[in-house]
Amino acid sequence: MNSFKLLLLAVICSIAIDPVLHAQTTAIPIETKNVAIVLQTDKNNHLKIVHTGRALASATDYETAAAAYRLTSQGANLNNAAYTVAGINNNFVEPAIAVVHADGNNSLDLVYEKQRMTTTPEGATLTVVTLKDAVYPFYVDLCFKAWKNEDVIEQWTEIRHTEKGKVTLNKYASANVYLFDDRFYLTSYNGNWAKEMQPELTQLKQGMHTIESRLGTRENLIGTQNFMLAMDQPATETTGTVLMGQLAWNGNYSIQFETDTYKKMHLVAGINPWQSAYELKPGSRFETPKFIYTISFNGTGTGSRNLQRWLRNYQLLDGKGERLTLLNNWEATYFNFDQNKLVDLFKGAKDLGVDLFLLDDGWFGNKYPRNSDNAGLGDWQENKKKLPDGIPYLVNEAGKQGIKFGIWIEPEMVNPKSELYEKHLDWVLREEKRPEIYFRNQMVLDLTNPEAQDFVFGVVDNLFKKNPSLAFIKWDCNAPIFNGHSKYLEKNKLPQSHLYVEYTRGLEKVLQRIRAKYPKVPMMLCSGGGGRTDYTLLKYFTEFWLSDDTDPLERVFIQWNYSYYYPAIAMCNHVTEWGKQPLKYRVDVASMGKLGFDIKANDLKPEDKAFCQQAIKNYNGFKDIVWHGDLYRLKNPYENDMASLMFVNKERTKSVVFNYLTNWRYVGDAALDPVKLQGLDPAKKYKIKELNVYGNQKPGFDESKVYSGDYLMNIGFNPNINLRRPSVVLSVEAL
Ligand code: DGJ
Repeated sequence: MNSFKLLLLAVICSIAIDPVLHAQTTAIPIETKNVAIVLQTDKNNHLKIVHTGRALASATDYETAAAAYRLTSQGANLNNAAYTVAGINNNFVEPAIAVVHADGNNSLDLVYEKQRMTTTPEGATLTVVTLKDAVYPFYVDLCFKAWKNEDVIEQWTEIRHTEKGKVTLNKYASANVYLFDDRFYLTSYNGNWAKEMQPELTQLKQGMHTIESRLGTRENLIGTQNFMLAMDQPATETTGTVLMGQLAWNGNYSIQFETDTYKKMHLVAGINPWQSAYELKPGSRFETPKFIYTISFNGTGTGSRNLQRWLRNYQLLDGKGERLTLLNNWEATYFNFDQNKLVDLFKGAKDLGVDLFLLDDGWFGNKYPRNSDNAGLGDWQENKKKLPDGIPYLVNEAGKQGIKFGIWIEPEMVNPKSELYEKHLDWVLREEKRPEIYFRNQMVLDLTNPEAQDFVFGVVDNLFKKNPSLAFIKWDCNAPIFNGHSKYLEKNKLPQSHLYVEYTRGLEKVLQRIRAKYPKVPMMLCSGGGGRTDYTLLKYFTEFWLSDDTDPLERVFIQWNYSYYYPAIAMCNHVTEWGKQPLKYRVDVASMGKLGFDIKANDLKPEDKAFCQQAIKNYNGFKDIVWHGDLYRLKNPYENDMASLMFVNKERTKSVVFNYLTNWRYVGDAALDPVKLQGLDPAKKYKIKELNVYGNQKPGFDESKVYSGDYLMNIGFNPNINLRRPSVVLSVEAL
């Protein structure tokens, strides 16, 4: 045979044996406006991911996508499986699922069975693809909810079986994703108390990189489940392809980034299987949490606006609504107050012009008064010495002053020095045979136990029953699960390895009951600072506390980092005494979200008070744009001596621009560079005014000038930031 004929034969053979090109396959596109994930069966009926990226104009084009890549080397031909399994030997990558069947066999081979597509009442497309084990009656439904306009995808699985006994799930991820690019840049977030959301950029190389939590509660204490993964090159605000999102689970999470032998990305996201093998009875169903993400092809700005819009429209409680400005007493008094002092603070709150007074920690406990953090937690009765007339008196007094009243609770926790601990030791998570371990002198209640759930629900319910006009709750959670043993699971002969999952589910049950009865009362999610920020809990909370670090300079960075994943309406920022910056700087930073104060309002100097009063009025004037508008991050403080961020309303007629000096070394009087605005209408004419000018200072520029949107977005505007004007807030309005 001559060489030409040999070559021809090889081509014919490769076509004949190439399963992807020629077997009867099923292609399942999951699409939003700009993003598509395409699944397709191979000749063995294994479901593969054949495209993750831009939606194509013609859906039939997806059918040949699989053939474009040669992911067929032996032992690595399942790397792009739609749901990777442990237990068939030709899967070389990290499994999304690992099980032991009722008969003790631990193999799994999932093949495509069927799919269905529906439209949800809110207009999302729900695709459910059923996979079945080739031998066992064991099923996995892969679920995809695609939000067209927001380019957001929610992905999770539902696992079920009809085997003769329990199946043990050793791993049960929500999703795996396969990305076909060649280089990956991960931004993940480390942290600790008062240091939340510290970004870390890592170029991922072949092998495994994991972000995870094992803390049980307060899962974001040392890292978060938010991440962004840029493809081919690091993304900027306006350029690059980037996947951004989080695992929406208030508990132990694990997100694994495996760069495989093809240098492609196999990403597995789910509940952390650590200490969490789950026994699933026949006929029951295990629903995993949602892995929620967007893919932007125009950098992180578009990506975060997608996530923010989606949260406001469909996830965050009352995301399209209003919020209350407030004065909190935590840093003004700590545990040291009584009812007279509080009533005095109400006057300060009213005088400032905020909507609500928020009473923080320290109001409860009698046998063990809550005068420090080592006693009283769990005993939710007013301390008679501090508050002889109880909470109703305070609510009433606040009402008389014309402000609303809110209260702090931490209902999942208990101090060993408490009546709750004495009466209900079996409700406390603890290892009976070992010494107790404390975090902030406290322990965690066992929310796997329905009685403990009732108790936690009762804390909120009793407060509302006695105080129907209570207007706000701050729900704190300061301790991780250190003593991971449940008496309830033990008594009911359930495995201790269910604890972390059932705790999280137990908490959600309580919150569901609270919201069924009190659907809209604003509640702030707080966790010893920003220890809890997952999207699932935000279904029950209107806002969250980002960090106890309120140093305004550090806060610029913290708020910047959170802003990639959350809308400003959900982000609580308080003006406090932290930091060396002037009061104006602190107020300007806190105004870039949901504004609050935690200061001794009555002790403010007259000019400071007058400034705050005016700043609150200004905030009330532009809050609607901050809460419901689009955010553009204009100047990155990690790359410049300043940060600049702007919010624009839907009509592109009104905008607020926040500018902060972030490098306090000598910058003299020379103003920094102009800032190029975004999101305006190039054809419209705008006027710029300076807001929050302190005392009798004058605006730093001529306010009568008119600029085109085109000019402001291409030449920019110089807010004239310098050491004497370290923060400048601008209002940009169309004529
Ligand atoms: C931690 C919170 O982050 C603070 O704001 C405050 O509420 C304290 N707990 C109270 O103990």
